[in-house]
Amino acid sequence: MSDDDYDSLAEYYENEIQATEQSDEPTPLKILDETTILDEPLDTILLEVYKRGETTLPEVTSRIDIPQAKVKRYLGELRLQGYLGVEYHGGDKYYFVKSRWETEEFPSGPVIPLVYQYNLLSDEQRLSAIKEAIDEHVSPGDIVTDLGAGVGVLSYLASERAEKVYAVEMDREVYEKGREIMTSHGIDNVEYIRGDARDVDLPEQVDVVMCEMLDTALAAELQVPVMNYAVDELCKADSTVIPAEAKTSAKLIQSDYEFYGGTFRLPHFEEYGSRESESFSDETVYHHVRFDEQNAELVEQQITMTATSAGTVNGMQLNTDVRFGDGLDFVGASPWLDAPLNLPFDTEYSVEPGQELTVKLSYQLGGGLNNITYEVVDS
Ligand SMILES: C[S@@+](CC[C@H](N)C(=O)[O-])C[C@H]1O[C@@H](n2cnc3c(N)ncnc32)[C@H](O)[C@@H]1O
Repeated sequence: MSDDDYDSLAEYYENEIQATEQSDEPTPLKILDETTILDEPLDTILLEVYKRGETTLPEVTSRIDIPQAKVKRYLGELRLQGYLGVEYHGGDKYYFVKSRWETEEFPSGPVIPLVYQYNLLSDEQRLSAIKEAIDEHVSPGDIVTDLGAGVGVLSYLASERAEKVYAVEMDREVYEKGREIMTSHGIDNVEYIRGDARDVDLPEQVDVVMCEMLDTALAAELQVPVMNYAVDELCKADSTVIPAEAKTSAKLIQSDYEFYGGTFRLPHFEEYGSRESESFSDETVYHHVRFDEQNAELVEQQITMTATSAGTVNGMQLNTDVRFGDGLDFVGASPWLDAPLNLPFDTEYSVEPGQELTVKLSYQLGGGLNNITYEVVDS
């Protein structure tokens, strides 16, 4: 079927729906949904790129009655919003529609749906620590970006002083709500961009990067991959980053895994009324990153923990502390930030004070909780 067979956009939609319904293949992209927040001519241009798979600026222009310079600007806008990616073949730039925005693509679950955003706002300890860093480090006239903006609370706080804030959010519903909230407050210096913070293009370099994609051990959310990208692509030489640094430690614990006579040895966050574990060692810091630097995305460590009291240990607990701005204190877990993560061992170990236990731990930062592997290698 050639593109000329499509007399109208409506016919194109119809054919797409039919083709999808008849095919066993997964839909390559929910493009019909995606276009709903795009105005003409962006949606027509997006469909042109989608129909061709990969295409160049001259090709798109030849099919649309719009001057090439404008098409170029619209393609740039679609790219900025995260709909299009580019690749270079033989020196030519090819545009393609980025596939799949569904959360299945992110098994680690870094997308935080709208229903949880209120909970994030309600965590006063988390937000007051970030606000302190914003008050301290965002100066009048600054260009700021808020990566993983959610419904825009950090952008809102920064907008009072910053000249411009680029708020980047991947989830459509969250993005739309954030944009609506900024508009309803009459805030016109926050520009919401729907896109992936790992490769978003901004129109200018920024003075301050804010990014709260933190989680315990930085294992599930994309803090490190996003900040690695931001440091290389979005920052000036002397940009400030919020948060500034994070350190993760491990300690020996005993958790209670007995429920109604059964043993359920499961990794878990110690939060929301879950049973409290007992500590059997001090914390050993095994991972420390500054977010204004490039950081390795693989953690591979042998961690030795020394028992401080006698007893039986059956797991270890990971804790992440964050310093949101240079000169501020580290903050630990709060209801929606870095809850202690308890990882059970396969077996129990009797320990005496001074006895060492070594665990081999490895995971990809941002690779999801399921990618954490660990084993006791010496006891
Ligand atoms: C922990 S929330 C923080 C929201 C807000 N900044 C705050 O502090 O309340 C992280 C946000 O990042 C978004 N997110 C996750 N991965 C993303 C990505 N690759 N690109 C853009 N946003 C992303 C999530 O949907 C979520 O809204």
